[in-house]
Amino acid sequence: MTTNTTRTNTPRPLGTTGPRVFPLGLGCMGMSALYGDADRAESIATIHAALEAGVTLLDTGDFYAMGHNEMLIGEALRSAPAARREQALTSVKFGALRDPDGNWSGYDGRPEAVRNFAAYSLQRLGVDHIDVYRIARLDPDVPIEETVGAIAELVEQGYVRHIGLSEVGADTIRRAAATAPISDLQFEYSLISRGIEEEVLPVTRELGIGVTAYGVLSRGLISGHFTPDRKLAAGDFRAFSPRFQGDNLQHNLNLVDALRKIAEQKGVSVAQIAIAWVLSRGEDIVPLVGARTRERLTESLGALDVSLDASDLAAIEQAVPADAAAGDRYPAAQMAHLGSK
Ligand SMILES: NC(=O)c1ccc[n+]([C@@H]2O[C@H](COP(=O)([O-])OP(=O)(O)OC[C@H]3O[C@@H](n4cnc5c(N)ncnc54)[C@H](OP(=O)(O)O)[C@@H]3O)[C@@H](O)[C@H]2O)c1
Repeated sequence: MTTNTTRTNTPRPLGTTGPRVFPLGLGCMGMSALYGDADRAESIATIHAALEAGVTLLDTGDFYAMGHNEMLIGEALRSAPAARREQALTSVKFGALRDPDGNWSGYDGRPEAVRNFAAYSLQRLGVDHIDVYRIARLDPDVPIEETVGAIAELVEQGYVRHIGLSEVGADTIRRAAATAPISDLQFEYSLISRGIEEEVLPVTRELGIGVTAYGVLSRGLISGHFTPDRKLAAGDFRAFSPRFQGDNLQHNLNLVDALRKIAEQKGVSVAQIAIAWVLSRGEDIVPLVGARTRERLTESLGALDVSLDASDLAAIEQAVPADAAAGDRYPAAQMAHLGSK
């Protein structure tokens, strides 16, 4: 096994119509929501450090703590040096409906809702356009053509540059792509979440659509840092994620132990192996790392220094075979909104 010490920063295309981006994007969700408390100053410092390291894509959702995450990114962009601010590309999800208690109540992909969501996001981010705009989940009551058509109008008006998709299946991808150019599909993809491989990835590749992969560390589960005794705050996604429950958790952490042996042999961390594996899946895939501290960011960026040869990949596959995880990647009610397992 060999470790490459040259960082591979070559930009990757977001599909045939999207921008070329730094090979890792920064997912900012955990800086506001779903993984317990985050430190605001450290979050902003992490965004600045990411831009300084060359990261271009900053991913968010307008529903991450009801606008909090967009305002955080807006503040980070305003306080960044001009050159760094200009290199940043915003990737924004919309459509999820919340109430003041934070409860989730479905999705809204109607054209008038799309325009409304976009108007608020532009304001919160403090930008004159959003680089990639996408509905977080398909609204079952609104044909995807109408939602994508509304974003395409925002593209014509200059408020959005590119249209993305999130967690939709093969048929929806085809219908969306027949409506307007699609830059990338956002989808959970990791060593233990490989549902995208069977039907979805062949379609994105056929249509020249890129993939922004999230949950590459399975929300910290396969980062090498998660321990069974970790106390999760109320509202932490992991407190009700099937993979973090009871026997499933120990089963999944045993997979991490198998991965750790490979990481140790290569002199890298478990998180770096997991991120490098997603990077190795193809130039059309851009992992979004959910680092919310500079320390975690540095570790994530180190994955760009890791090269995996055929024997490494075989060893990883043996340690963590596809479908090895115990438990679905979302609770049942949320699985129902996904285009693939
Ligand atoms: N389209 C969608 O449906 C969807 C869904 C979810 C997320 N996303 C996007 O994808 C982004 C990434 O997703 P994610 O946050 O679930 O991904 P992730 O990278 O799998 O998980 C992030 C969590 O892993 C832990 N971690 C441990 N070591 C790490 C390291 N070296 N680097 C980064 N994180 C490390 C962190 O938890 P601790 O800080 O607690 O240690 C962090 O909160 C999100 O920020 C969001 O923008 C999209």
